[in-house]
Amino acid sequence: EKGAYAHYMLKEIDEQPAVMRRLLQEYSGKDGVVTLDPTITKAVNAADRIYIIACGTSYHAGLVGKHLLETIAGIPTEVHISSEFSYNMPLLSKKPLFVFISQSGETADSRAVLVKVKKLGHPTLTMTNVEGSTLYREADYKMLLFAGPEIAVASTKAYTAMIAVFAFIAVASAQKKGTKLDLDLVHEMSIAAQGMEQMIDEKALLKEVARDYLSITRNAFYIGRGLDYYVCMEASLKLKEVSYIQAEGFAGGELKHGTIALIEDGTPVFAFATQKNVNNNIRSNVQEVAARGAHTCIISMDGVTNHADDRIVLPNVHPALTPLVCAVPLQLIAYYAALQNECDVDKPRNLAKSVTVE
Ligand code: F6R
Repeated sequence: EKGAYAHYMLKEIDEQPAVMRRLLQEYSGKDGVVTLDPTITKAVNAADRIYIIACGTSYHAGLVGKHLLETIAGIPTEVHISSEFSYNMPLLSKKPLFVFISQSGETADSRAVLVKVKKLGHPTLTMTNVEGSTLYREADYKMLLFAGPEIAVASTKAYTAMIAVFAFIAVASAQKKGTKLDLDLVHEMSIAAQGMEQMIDEKALLKEVARDYLSITRNAFYIGRGLDYYVCMEASLKLKEVSYIQAEGFAGGELKHGTIALIEDGTPVFAFATQKNVNNNIRSNVQEVAARGAHTCIISMDGVTNHADDRIVLPNVHPALTPLVCAVPLQLIAYYAALQNECDVDKPRNLAKSVTVE
């Protein structure tokens, strides 16, 4: 039940820190050790390449998952949109592991791929929020998101739960291989949960940002680099689906290769700037669009660089976990933009919670 909340979406955004803590309980033990079903860690470490298959928001979580698997576990990883993979299958590696990510566990496009790769005899792992769902039942290995029922059509807490579960998989894989890690995941994830809580307490600011940037516009851009780029793709999907404002997420360096032609006086451009190694680059991309009249909003992270003039400053978290804290402002900005536009936040037009046709 949504209780005192006006909408399920808002309630589910607020639940995210608690979901992180639940996942810490489920997937870690004493002394900060990550504890996964050992058969899953074994399957992950037996693969020469991981293929992540998903749609929509889950696909965006998969992109972050790829980064975590490659940088922490050292396993080459590809991410594919289910409906594309199904009919345009790439050349596969010798020992692939397929990871299906699906909040509902019922997405037909993803199931079509599961059926095909099972026929080819490849191992499959489903990460889902719904125990007993189709994708859960049909995969060899299963991991749950423990996010609790997600009622709003726009996915929020499942997205951050997926990212967190990827972090557990990556660390479990590295632990098992004896790789020396510079990431104490249990510690860093609880810091990230606190960071999410701090952003949840910034509703007044995020509502103001939605009003200042999105009340009269028909379009908006999100730019970022590296992990921030993946966050931008999710930010634009969230904004589109709940507020009906056309939005695009771009790699910071790519805008000038064409799309910058769309920037006019007042076009809103949000830039995520949480990654130290590309901080100067993204800030110069912001200058490029600002010089053409864009109304820019920088969302940066404390402790990364000077942020005196940035509109939103996120609390510092480990650089691999920044998407967890970025998720809160991107979701709340979309939520408040939807309210401004008098949209049906929990049930956007033309959408269904689970897409059971291909
Ligand atoms: C967006 C959204 C969709 C789903 C997509 C996959 O907010 O909810 O993009 O993420 O339809 O659904 P699942 O994860 O259930 O397979």
